[in-house]
Amino acid sequence: MTPPERFQLLRGETGVPVRNGVRTGAIGSAGYVPGVPRLGVPALQETDASLGIANPDNIRRRDAATAFASGLSLASTWDAQIAYEVGSIVGDEAWRKGFNVLLGPGLNLTREPRNGRDFEYLGEDPLLAGTLAGSFVCGVQDQHVIATMKHFALNDQETGRFVYSADIGEAAMRESDLLAFEIAFGEGHPGAVMCAYNRVNGIYACENDHLLNGILKGAWGFPGWVMSDWGAVHSVNAALRGLDQESALQVDQAISGVSFFGAPLEGAVASGALASSRLLDMNRRILRSMLAVGLFDNPPQRLPIDFRSHANVALDAAQRGIVVLKNDGVLPLRRSMHRIAVIGGYADAGVPSGGGSAQVMPIGRAVVFPFGGDSSPVAFYDRSPPLASIRATAPRAAVSFNDGRYPSEAATLAKHAEVAVVFATEWIGEGIDAPDLTLPGGQDALIAAVAAANPHTVVVLETGNPVTMPWLRETGAVVEAWYAGERGGDAIANVLFGYVDAAGRLPITFPAAQAQLVHPDLPGLDEVLSAIAAGAGPYQAARGIAPFSITYPDGSDAGYRRFAKEGVSPLFAFGHGLSYTTFRYTGLNVSGGETLKASFSVTNTGSRDGTDTPQIYLTSKPGAPQMRLLGWSKVTLAPGETRNVTVVADPRLLADFDPAKNAWVIQEGLYQASLGSAADDLQLRAAAPVAARALSP
Ligand code: BGC
Repeated sequence: MTPPERFQLLRGETGVPVRNGVRTGAIGSAGYVPGVPRLGVPALQETDASLGIANPDNIRRRDAATAFASGLSLASTWDAQIAYEVGSIVGDEAWRKGFNVLLGPGLNLTREPRNGRDFEYLGEDPLLAGTLAGSFVCGVQDQHVIATMKHFALNDQETGRFVYSADIGEAAMRESDLLAFEIAFGEGHPGAVMCAYNRVNGIYACENDHLLNGILKGAWGFPGWVMSDWGAVHSVNAALRGLDQESALQVDQAISGVSFFGAPLEGAVASGALASSRLLDMNRRILRSMLAVGLFDNPPQRLPIDFRSHANVALDAAQRGIVVLKNDGVLPLRRSMHRIAVIGGYADAGVPSGGGSAQVMPIGRAVVFPFGGDSSPVAFYDRSPPLASIRATAPRAAVSFNDGRYPSEAATLAKHAEVAVVFATEWIGEGIDAPDLTLPGGQDALIAAVAAANPHTVVVLETGNPVTMPWLRETGAVVEAWYAGERGGDAIANVLFGYVDAAGRLPITFPAAQAQLVHPDLPGLDEVLSAIAAGAGPYQAARGIAPFSITYPDGSDAGYRRFAKEGVSPLFAFGHGLSYTTFRYTGLNVSGGETLKASFSVTNTGSRDGTDTPQIYLTSKPGAPQMRLLGWSKVTLAPGETRNVTVVADPRLLADFDPAKNAWVIQEGLYQASLGSAADDLQLRAAAPVAARALSP
């Protein structure tokens, strides 16, 4: 490669097909890196993201894609096979549209339950998120499309994402957020990693030598390349510190023209500040992943896409991810019902989709509502609106609809129905966080009024975050459907009417109140709002506020681990979800040695088929109580059927990370494992001795 060819590979641009009247070679997406035709090196055509192939600003006119349910929904399946299938379809659609790099999956742990991007990610547990992300990566890369794990690391909230520093101890991050990445890397071997906007311990993630060179490439041996998030580079020194490729700039930077991997990088190599061996390493890492994933041998081809079968997988995944949180016996609904009142949530129009780069232009239409502000339209996928799906499922019932604007009117309608199904939405997206945990727009009052009028009230939440539920006690059932994707209405109806079991389990804790959060006040929110009050636009407010620090007093014990440690009861615990049948666990037997192995039996004690997710937690280790998910199983059983299950713990989950030794250290002693249906429902316990050892990452 000539020097210009080498440098060209290290700098992405926005994937605009035509710039100043000239064709760029991009096919239209978030990012594009020109290839080297002379050597047969293909261009990198980079597309978002893990919920389907995005089409930002309709840049490829009306090019729609299968829109999957949100990441939290996928995580609620606790099913690596589904994650693989979704990944392979997203990869297949990318490839058939001409893309060879997918900018996903995102797997930042849910440290901040108000984070505007929680919906894209895979929940709060490193094993669950890492396992699912790893399977998703395998699915994508089996289609010869490079997957990109993002956002490395600790981009756990959107407020202040360009300026804050996530300040966390080494062991704490290795045992939590970074462990998710480490597990996903080990399972899936993604070709690329995207470094985050924020700082980690004071240093921008994209120039964080310790994170990139020390941990990712050093300790884990990541052979691929690190690309920056869009506009996340702050100096040419990032190249020395482990960044291999600068992605497209964000709009403001493109105008000011600051591209560090352009002339400044060439200057650094010319002056010797950046060794030419490092330049070769940067090139080699990119080309290596292109070769490993098959970009040379199996270049994308514009072939027809089987949207019909993909829609069926979208439906299957979405319904497996729906979590029944509470059920007083109202669910499943009977098809023979005569009068059903459907209320609120734009259930007549569609299901919400999260906003930002992960948003997909769906098959069907996206109906846009104007209440999100100019920069963030609130889009509902209209292919299967819940109202139409409920009507189709209960064709003999009179299914009435009320939009819920007037709670009194909705309550009167509910009073005359056998059951009232209230839809409540919380729309959120990239760049913004929910300011608190309430349902927005007066929906709590609507639900309370309807539930007061009819005890057979089923609340269907379509949210991107956990919410508080002041009306919980008055309702008959509560269902978390998340953002359920293009077949969302059908998925919801299938679960409500019990065509499929309610098999989803929570991948995050639902706190009972904001006071239970690590940071009851969202860090940086006050500063952003005060800048807006002073006249700044949302964009300037996001970039212009003073740097601030986010601390992690919970250490590695994010989410349910902290609730357990502090003895605090959440509203709904991690792992919780009700099936339409019942299960019994018996015969827990735990053996030790190099790691813990738990065997037990699960029996379906109810009268219908059902799918359970028995979970094994580490509940104590030598000298200290602990709470860590060690593994789980998905079992589908007929009534009366019993299945024996064995779960083997990843030894890293028994260990502490010792920064001085740069190793996972297991102390000798008794380790207790507990079996239950959720983090707060541990039913059987057993302990076994585990031998001392140190494991290098
Ligand atoms: C987001 C990334 C995304 C990129 C390209 C950034 O703003 O943080 O997740 O992949 O844009 O669209």
